Amino acid sequence: MQENSSRPLALVTGASSGIGSDLARELARHGHDVIITARRAPELDALATELRTLGARATVITKDLSVPGAARELAAQLEAAGTQLDVLVNNAGFGDVGAFVAEDSDRIDAMLQLNIAALTALTRAIAPGMVARKRGRIMFVASIAAYQPGPNMATYCATKAYVLSLGEAIAQELRGTGVTLTVLCPGATHTGFAAESGAEKLPLFSSSLIPKMTSAAVASAGYQAMIKGKPVVITGLMNKVVAFSGQVFPRSIIFPAAKLMLGE
Ligand SMILES: NC(=O)c1ccc[n+]([C@@H]2O[C@H](COP(=O)([O-])OP(=O)(O)OC[C@H]3O[C@@H](n4cnc5c(N)ncnc54)[C@H](OP(=O)(O)O)[C@@H]3O)[C@@H](O)[C@H]2O)c1
Repeated sequence: MQENSSRPLALVTGASSGIGSDLARELARHGHDVIITARRAPELDALATELRTLGARATVITKDLSVPGAARELAAQLEAAGTQLDVLVNNAGFGDVGAFVAEDSDRIDAMLQLNIAALTALTRAIAPGMVARKRGRIMFVASIAAYQPGPNMATYCATKAYVLSLGEAIAQELRGTGVTLTVLCPGATHTGFAAESGAEKLPLFSSSLIPKMTSAAVASAGYQAMIKGKPVVITGLMNKVVAFSGQVFPRSIIFPAAKLMLGE
């Protein structure tokens, strides 16, 4: 675990690839020490080495956060070591493509545990200490999928609707405490997500007409918004339009549009 340091300390979940790796880089570049966690140790070790070249102390904790109780275990491990976090980034998550009735039940359970239960438990365990110290930044990584139901990716979109709803509500509760919560809502982004979720063939990822951002650009926008204490940031103009449409247009327009992006 981290020895005492005058640099602020951040925990990033899902830091072994994609947006989480780039958020860890962003934090290290901006003077933070970083605890990085995910399941894949080699990727985390390689990132830790890179973060140290940026002047950060980097600690690796390998953990499968889809196991019930794992997030609370992680929080207890940090507390036992006397770790006081300045930044908590709840980024780990995955999706799943296909009709709900054909979805693998174990995969649904793992997704609910990771995308919802672990994020909630970790935040519940860590936020009170931040409030007591009157200092802290929390980030939830949701998605523009949070803004409308997504047939053919129903469970994933519903998990992200939960993340957005919980995050926006807690952000309000935290006003005036010195602690802020920012929900980062990316759209399609070049990471391991599409392959892991079986989404590579969906127009959302395969069509050249739909713009994709890099994980570095998403992380940079997320970091800036978090430092400013913004409750929500949607990355990219096109994604802002999609999220806005999900809120203002009737479902009779939203579902055919969703089918164009999420239908195979
Ligand atoms: N890419 C997109 O288009 C997109 C769009 C909107 C939102 N998002 C969200 O962005 C976040 C990051 O995803 P990404 O796009 O960067 O995809 P990614 O490259 O696949 O990264 C996912 C991260 O989550 C970790 N993870 C997965 N299962 C885990 C488990 N059981 N326990 C602990 N960690 C686990 C992975 O690490 P290990 O495999 O090593 O465990 C990895 O570090 C996710 O919440 C995703 O829903 C992505």
